[in-house]
Amino acid sequence: MGSVGAKEVPVLLSPEGLRIDGRKLDELRPLSIRAGALHQADGSAAVEWGANKVLAAVYGPREVHPRHLQQNHKAVIQCRYNMAAFSVDERKRPGLDRRSQEISKVIGEAFESVVFVEEYPRTSIDIYIEVLQANAGTRCAGVVAASVALADAGIPMADLLPAVAVGKVGGAIALDLKKEEDNFGEADLPMALVPQSGRLVLLQMEGHLTEPELAQALDLGVKGCREIYEQMKRALRERYAVGPTAGASS
Ligand code: CDP
Repeated sequence: MGSVGAKEVPVLLSPEGLRIDGRKLDELRPLSIRAGALHQADGSAAVEWGANKVLAAVYGPREVHPRHLQQNHKAVIQCRYNMAAFSVDERKRPGLDRRSQEISKVIGEAFESVVFVEEYPRTSIDIYIEVLQANAGTRCAGVVAASVALADAGIPMADLLPAVAVGKVGGAIALDLKKEEDNFGEADLPMALVPQSGRLVLLQMEGHLTEPELAQALDLGVKGCREIYEQMKRALRERYAVGPTAGASS
């Protein structure tokens, strides 16, 4: 442990280039995705990603509530990201705060770009993301879970939406930050990619990066998203596989 003032700062990168949990700079945390994890929703998914545990439930297309949000030419996507009070070290006050409102908004907007909203005018597609355990990157885990849940609900989309946060830790660009890296690192850059077009539909940044570092971070994030994409497709294939293992969660 190094120290800055009174605050203990962990050593984020070893001389061998390994991270606090032993990962390489371009290595994802272990990721498991289960499509169709909840029975009541039209579509659902459970994601465990490192120490993150996130559920997504999707309903729709269905009637719009509140009614005044209805759009005549397309479906509205209403997304609610919520963190359970017990999901973090210090109990989070229950309910929507500014952070969860912001995250709900950016995730909803990201899905507006891939869901074929024009096909369902005057309806609502509702996405609920519940973070049960948080360890950085929960908005990305939420996007991954919601994306698989949308596909599970049979909602037509241009593509799935893999997402990951890249950042700078101990002076180096690193994939998929965990909590200590997010807290004590130099930058955090969550992103979501439309794999087939290569378009980023969610991109945020906290901290500082030089232009070459930003280019490197985007490159690494895109590679990470493509790895995650394969796992998302695998989860859907497992859910809908025909054969003796089919319908394992139904
Ligand atoms: O989770 P994500 O990285 O998308 O969002 P963030 O705002 O950068 O938060 C990073 C992490 O800080 C979260 O994943 C939680 O582990 C933690 N956090 C917390 O402990 N208490 C909060 N009220 C909010 C976040």
